Amino acid sequence: MSLIIWLTGLPGSGKSTIAQALLRSIGQSRLEYLSLDTIRKEIIPHPEYTDAERDLVYEAYADRALLIASSGKDVLLDATGHKKRYRDRLRAGTIPFIEIFISCPLAICMEREAARTNNLVISNTYKRALAGEKKRRDGLGEVIGIDVPYEENHQADLIIDSASLTPELAARTILKFLETKGFK
Ligand SMILES: Nc1ncnc2c1ncn2[C@@H]1O[C@H](COP(=O)(O)OP(=O)(O)O)[C@@H](O)[C@H]1O
Ligand SMILES: [Mg+2]
Repeated sequence: MSLIIWLTGLPGSGKSTIAQALLRSIGQSRLEYLSLDTIRKEIIPHPEYTDAERDLVYEAYADRALLIASSGKDVLLDATGHKKRYRDRLRAGTIPFIEIFISCPLAICMEREAARTNNLVISNTYKRALAGEKKRRDGLGEVIGIDVPYEENHQADLIIDSASLTPELAARTILKFLETKGFK
């Protein structure tokens, strides 16, 4: 039976960095990696990051995950998933679902997000949102963690403290955990 594994947490918490470390350590072929940023670009070329747009993007994202998992592959999801119901929808399905919360204080996420380079997403969103920059300009929509809360699931299957673990150690911890859940 396939697994759907979701790395969730605030923007800048380290999801994509940890996902890459995990893929490096286990090999790309063992997991299909699905980044929300990539799917979003596919279906919405000029995103506005509104609530309605996010609902649509997350629905398409979950459908894609289910499709891949139904074909027999394990899927690694890398997406903020700030609404608990986005994640709960997958948990409620028949395919085994593992929620891994990448926990990191907002202040550290803000520093990391301002410093990172990622051409799929606009940068400095936290600081721009805090500065009260006009919305809907240059794709700055509702910023998770500032304008919209991240809804924590206290029953996440695994919590990774990315403020104290290196990406490599985080990846190793995740892999060990997945092996206890039947990941081969
Ligand atoms: N222990 C750590 N775990 C993950 N990322 C870290 C860590 N320490 C520093 N970083 C940096 O923080 C940034 C996290 O960005 P990213 O992985 O894109 O976050 P997310 O995908 O959650 O939005 C990267 O620039 C990464 O190099
Ligand atoms: Mg990311």
